[in-house]
Amino acid sequence: SSTKLLIKGGTVVNAHHQEVADVYVEDGIIVAVKPDLKVSDDVKVIDATGKFVMPGGIDPHTHLAMEFMGTETIDDFFSGQAAALAGGTTMHIDFVIPVNDSLIAGLETYEEKAKKSCMDYGFHMAITKFDDIVSRDMEIIVKEKGINSFKFFLAYKGSLMVNDELLLEGLKRCKSLGALAMVHAENGDAVFEGQKRMIQLGIFGPEGHALSRPPVLEGEATARAIRLAGFVNTPLYVVHVMSIDAMEEIAKARKSGQRVVGEPVVSGLVLDDSGLWDSDFTTASKYVMSPPIRASGHDKALQGALSNGVLQLVGTDHCVFNSTQKAFGIDDFRKIPNGVNGIEERMHLVWDTMVESGQISITDYVRVTSTECARIFNIYPRKGAIIAGSDADIIILNPNSSFEINARSHHSRTDTNVYEGRRGKGKVEVTIARGRVVWENNELKVVPGSGKYIEMPPFNYLFSGIDKADASYLSSLNAPVKRSKSTT
Ligand code: URP
Ligand code: ZN
Ligand code: ZN
Ligand code: ZN
Repeated sequence: SSTKLLIKGGTVVNAHHQEVADVYVEDGIIVAVKPDLKVSDDVKVIDATGKFVMPGGIDPHTHLAMEFMGTETIDDFFSGQAAALAGGTTMHIDFVIPVNDSLIAGLETYEEKAKKSCMDYGFHMAITKFDDIVSRDMEIIVKEKGINSFKFFLAYKGSLMVNDELLLEGLKRCKSLGALAMVHAENGDAVFEGQKRMIQLGIFGPEGHALSRPPVLEGEATARAIRLAGFVNTPLYVVHVMSIDAMEEIAKARKSGQRVVGEPVVSGLVLDDSGLWDSDFTTASKYVMSPPIRASGHDKALQGALSNGVLQLVGTDHCVFNSTQKAFGIDDFRKIPNGVNGIEERMHLVWDTMVESGQISITDYVRVTSTECARIFNIYPRKGAIIAGSDADIIILNPNSSFEINARSHHSRTDTNVYEGRRGKGKVEVTIARGRVVWENNELKVVPGSGKYIEMPPFNYLFSGIDKADASYLSSLNAPVKRSKSTT
C-alpha cells in the first residue's frame, strides 16, 4: 500500500539512543527520523507527544497452531498474531516441528498454517532425529529456506527428546552451516523418573508437574548443553531459562567467554509457582508449562540477570491450550498440555516489571524486547530499529497510561490468562505493522494474509577458518588437524 504516516513529537527510542523526533513512513518503510519534519496534507499524522516511539516487539519464542501432547494449541497464526499486535509485538519466530522426523514435511505444514498471518514471522526448526537425510535437509533449510536456528529438546522423553549423541551431531552440523543451536534444557530421563515417583506417591494434581521436574534438572541439562556446545565450539541459545540453577550456568559460561545466549520468558520473570497449588484444577492447570514456573525467588533472580546482562532477550513461549484441553490431565498431571500465554502481555509486563521498577533503562527495554532478537537472528536493522530504511514496525507506548490483563478482554482464543487481574503502567496505545496502523483506540484492524515471511540468513563468522578450540576438538577426536592462518 502507499500509506503515508507521520508520528509527531514522540521520544524515539532505539537500543542505544533516544531523542525527541518525528518518524515519517512511506510504503511500509521508515523514510526519515528527524525533529520537526514537514509533510504534505495527504499524510496521516499521529501525535506522540509525551510518549515513546519504539521498534515493535519481536517475540523469539512462540508455538502457534502446534500439535502437541495429543492436541493443538488454540491460537493459530491469525489469532495469536492479532493478540501480539494488540500488545505491541509486530514479529514473532515460531518453532517448526518436523513431521515424522522430516524437516521439509514439517516446514511445508507450517508454511500452510502461516498463510493467514497478519504480521511478519520467521521460523526456527526443531530437530528430533539425526541421520543423513536430516543432515542434508538442515543444509537446505539454512541455504534455501531462510531459517538459521535449530532447536534441540533435551526433555519430552518419548516424543521430541534427543540424546547427547544426537545433540552433539546437531551442534556440529549447526556449526558447519553457520546456524545457531537452541536448546530446551531439562534432563528428560530424570523428569520421566520424577513423574513416576509422583504417581507412586499418589500426587496426580498440577503441583506434581513442578515437583517432578525441579530446578536441578534444568541446571544439569543447561550445563551439559553448554559444555557440549563449548566442546564443539559453536554458540548456544538456551530457551526459556526458568531457574537460578540454569541462569548461573549461563553466567559462568559467559564470564569465561563462551558464546551463550539466555532467554527468560515473561512467565518466569513475573510469576511464581503458588498458582500450581490452587485447589481449583482449571486455575492450577493453566500454569503448567515446561520447564515449570518456579518457587518465589527465581523470578526476582531472573529479573536481576536480565538487568545485568547475563540474560539478553525476553520471549514468551506462547503455547496456549484452553481449559477443556488442560482438563485432559484432570486425573494425571502428565496429560495436562504444557504451555502458557504471553504473546499479548509481554511488552506490557516487561515495561512494568523492569522499566517502571527501575531495573532497566528505556533503551534496554527496546534491546531486550526487540533489537537483541533481530541481531541474534541476523535481521537487524531491517527489524528492531527505528532508523531510515527499516521496516515500519513501530509502537507508541504511553508510560502514564495503565493496562489491565484479563481473559475477558484479551485477544487470544483461550479462556484463561495466567496474568489474570494484573495491572500496571505503560500501555501500548498504537501498533504499526509495516506502515499499517493495526492497533489504535483499543481496536484491532488486522488483515489475514498481510504478514510476510522474514528470511533469516546464516552467520558467516561461524565457519571462517579453524580456530584454537576447533583444533583441540579435532585433535581430541584423533582427527588430523587442518592448519589455517589462525592456528599458529
Ligand atoms: O510448556 C511449554 N514450554 N510448551 C511449549 C513447548 C516448549 O517446550 O517450548
Ligand atoms: Zn540521534
Ligand atoms: Zn521448550
Ligand atoms: Zn517453547
